[in-house]
Amino acid sequence: MRYPPEPFRIKVVEPIKLISPEARQQAMQAAGHNVFALRAEDVFIDLLTDSGTGAMSQDQWAAIMRGDESYAGARSYYNLADAMTEIFGFEHFVPTHQGRAAENILTSQLVKPGMFVPSNMHFDTTEGNIMARGGRPTNLVIDEAFDPTNLHPFKGNMDIQKLRNFIQKVGPQKIPFGAITITNNAGGGQPVSVANIRAVSETYHEFGIPFFIDACRYAENAYFIKLREPGYANKSTLEIAREIFALADGAWMSAKKDGMVNIGGFLAMRDGELFQKVCNELILREGFVTYGGLAGRDLDALAVGLREGLDESYLAYRIGQTGYLGARLKENNVPCIEPSGGHAIFLDAGRLLPHIPHAEFPGQSLVASLYLAGGIRGVEIGSVMFAHPDPDTGKIVYPQLEMVRLAIPRRVYTQAHMDYVADVLGELALKAKELRGYRFTYAPELLRHFTARFETL
Ligand code: F0G
Repeated sequence: MRYPPEPFRIKVVEPIKLISPEARQQAMQAAGHNVFALRAEDVFIDLLTDSGTGAMSQDQWAAIMRGDESYAGARSYYNLADAMTEIFGFEHFVPTHQGRAAENILTSQLVKPGMFVPSNMHFDTTEGNIMARGGRPTNLVIDEAFDPTNLHPFKGNMDIQKLRNFIQKVGPQKIPFGAITITNNAGGGQPVSVANIRAVSETYHEFGIPFFIDACRYAENAYFIKLREPGYANKSTLEIAREIFALADGAWMSAKKDGMVNIGGFLAMRDGELFQKVCNELILREGFVTYGGLAGRDLDALAVGLREGLDESYLAYRIGQTGYLGARLKENNVPCIEPSGGHAIFLDAGRLLPHIPHAEFPGQSLVASLYLAGGIRGVEIGSVMFAHPDPDTGKIVYPQLEMVRLAIPRRVYTQAHMDYVADVLGELALKAKELRGYRFTYAPELLRHFTARFETL
């Protein structure tokens, strides 16, 4: 597969360096073997997340200089509001400092103890925010999502029959809102089709349940639709995005992804009454309704970034770069979730390390080895992140897949960086049998992957 030439050139550079193997060993010891506790300067290629780690464009930096820092009614807010109307078309929105702030506000207003929130798959902070309000996040993605080599073009789709059965089982009055995540981050960065979003919308609405979209990577999702869904090849990504959001009652977004900014987010909705309550909560926790915990300049950078994130030459490069890394890893016999996702490659640690059981964290083992071998930082998306005791039985429920995510920051790394990652992993795969499991020496109850500490077994 050919690496797509970047539709930009580099004007500012940030030095990175590979510290020695001994220094990496020491750094991991000090970090309790948790890569979240490393100093970023000790990382050579940082694929921990694509969130807030992208490079802004010259137009975004110019917009930063034009930011209006007025407390209320800033010009920057209205610039963002124009982009919001153009792309998402919801009647109301508030800016938030990032995605989880929007999740907190939404769940604070809608979720009561014992309620359920279905989605294809919730990401960790969404799950955490629902659980923190006593609710139960429920994942109803299609079964193909759990088959790592199944090439279904829309592996992020929700299973409509499962959704219908679920609503009938728990009762619609126990579902304050229904969600869908596009692309499906926790399930491999896989897209959802327009046909599926329409069916999800109709099902929620049939039972009177409001439908909210977790829109972090909606632009990548729209581009996959253009490439793969019959009837969309000649529609622009903007037209596809509008069609998607017209099906929903609201959306929240961590703009640190497809918003192409280092910080920012929003919560948008149609319901005026809910908006009033959201504004009151926002003012209490985040800031006034026209800035929501961001600086005016951040709002301006986001207004530009939202449009750049939908640019089709950028998206062709973006999806092509991820696909290139996936293809190189396949050549090197590193098992991955296929097809390649939008923002990341998900390594199948379960398949690479079958000798390490769920309870000994195969993903953590691979993440730690990848850093030690090449100074590369990924993130475990498996039992460290998602194993929870079942609220009814107390038995630990393990996720079906043990994965390591290599998330690619936007407009940051080049082909040579991708080749380096593929080569380090290729060599590691040859030594897979030597990798060992881990156990916790400390783990908090919620979102434990961020601060847990480990020891090797
Ligand atoms: N929803 C999804 C699907 C996400 O991927 C994230 C963040 C959030 C919500 C929360 O947004 O970080 O701005 O508060 N995902 C990042 C990641 C952290 O690495 O995938 P946030």
